[in-house]
Amino acid sequence: MAFWDRRKPVDMVAEIDPSHRLKATLSWPHLVALGVGAIVGTGIYTLIGVGAGLAGPAVILSFVIAGVICICAGLAYAEMSTMIPAAGSAYTYSYAVLGEMLAWVVGWSLMLEYTVVCSAVAVGWAGHVVPFIQAAGIPEVLLKGPEQGGLINLPAVIICFVVAGLLLVGTRESANVNLVLVVIKVLALAAFVAIAAPHFDASHFTPFMPKGFEGHAADGTGLGVMGAAAIIFFAFYGFDTISTAAEETKNPGRDLTIGIVGSMLICVAIYMGVAAAAIGAVRTEVFASHDAPLVYILEILKQPVTAKVVAGAAVVALPTVILAFMYGQSRIFFVMARDGLLPQGLAKVNPRSGVPTLMTVVTALIAAALAGFLPLGQIAALANAGTLCAFIATAACMMVMRRREPDRPRVFKAPLWWLIGPVAILGCLYLFWSLPVMTKVLFFVWNGVGLLIYLAWARRGSLLGKAGAA
Ligand code: ALA
Repeated sequence: MAFWDRRKPVDMVAEIDPSHRLKATLSWPHLVALGVGAIVGTGIYTLIGVGAGLAGPAVILSFVIAGVICICAGLAYAEMSTMIPAAGSAYTYSYAVLGEMLAWVVGWSLMLEYTVVCSAVAVGWAGHVVPFIQAAGIPEVLLKGPEQGGLINLPAVIICFVVAGLLLVGTRESANVNLVLVVIKVLALAAFVAIAAPHFDASHFTPFMPKGFEGHAADGTGLGVMGAAAIIFFAFYGFDTISTAAEETKNPGRDLTIGIVGSMLICVAIYMGVAAAAIGAVRTEVFASHDAPLVYILEILKQPVTAKVVAGAAVVALPTVILAFMYGQSRIFFVMARDGLLPQGLAKVNPRSGVPTLMTVVTALIAAALAGFLPLGQIAALANAGTLCAFIATAACMMVMRRREPDRPRVFKAPLWWLIGPVAILGCLYLFWSLPVMTKVLFFVWNGVGLLIYLAWARRGSLLGKAGAA
């Protein structure tokens, strides 16, 4: 079989050398918290304003579209991650189902997703925290990146290292801290809905679709409902980070299913509530593109105390998003190194904490470097491109396996697989198409470079290739 088509036998994926095994310390409450912790973040706190600017009140439709696509992808993830409960998420499934070269492309795209999300959320977090710390007399140039006329965004760099430190203490400890922060984040959104809902005015929903359904502006930016959906998509993902923890769950079948499907449904419900309350309370053109739209809406409604509470909750809780993605990223690196596609020395697990120390530090360094110097701008869109690639691959894996091995036992079976698979794949392709043109170009450049590295070097290191297993 050609190198690009060599596949890890599905049964072999779960069999891992014990010295390279991650500790099983997590159960489903940790996973739901990990999922909600990764999903609810910059998307609902900030990008809802960007979406409102692109689509007007129809941004609520963008939420529905992105949500439906993500639920379909989530069901495919639940099926694949319980069938192959090994770390590595879409990369691991692709290696077993689609072949090594496509798996490499997916892994390479996941690196884009996970690291860029960490950086984007770190920059967003810094934006919220700066008003609180400005009084301490820290020079302005250390509080913003070069794009805003500063030198380095130090708060964003620091939060990346703080989160990495938390991970290095050990998975369970980090997951417990995460649980508390998730509760704070969700309560703040509930407070927002409770305050904004009584101000609901149905006339705010007309004209409903001022920018149309889809299209691109002259500068390549996506427009209308689909343009907004392609950005709002950022708000929904994160549940895939749960599947990267598959190897560390005590009872993968039950825990992963509840973790993925449960956290996804909780978040869709929260988002619909927040979006409807926000649009009903204040016209979209008023809060569109505001840096902290939810906080701003509360200020307009003359609720300064709740506004401070929501802002404070964002500061305290947004790091949970970084936590979940950094956790996922260190494991993607780890699994690719374990497979011989990245340098093997990087795959060592700390025997005490059970986490891959070196890779966690490398991830933090890269995320911090990006966060310190790059503007937020198109970062979210770029992260979306990487994620869409992983979602498409996972839904494709689910469908291929249903045809190739229909009798293989499945702990979780996605309902109506022949429908949700195509909806996930075509929906993700449509969202990808609706991204800004520049984002698509960067995505293909990133994967072009990745493929060159694979062809020139990585495929030769492949342990599967050396074992002649394929
Ligand atoms: N869904 C995550 C967020 O909105 C990435 O921050």
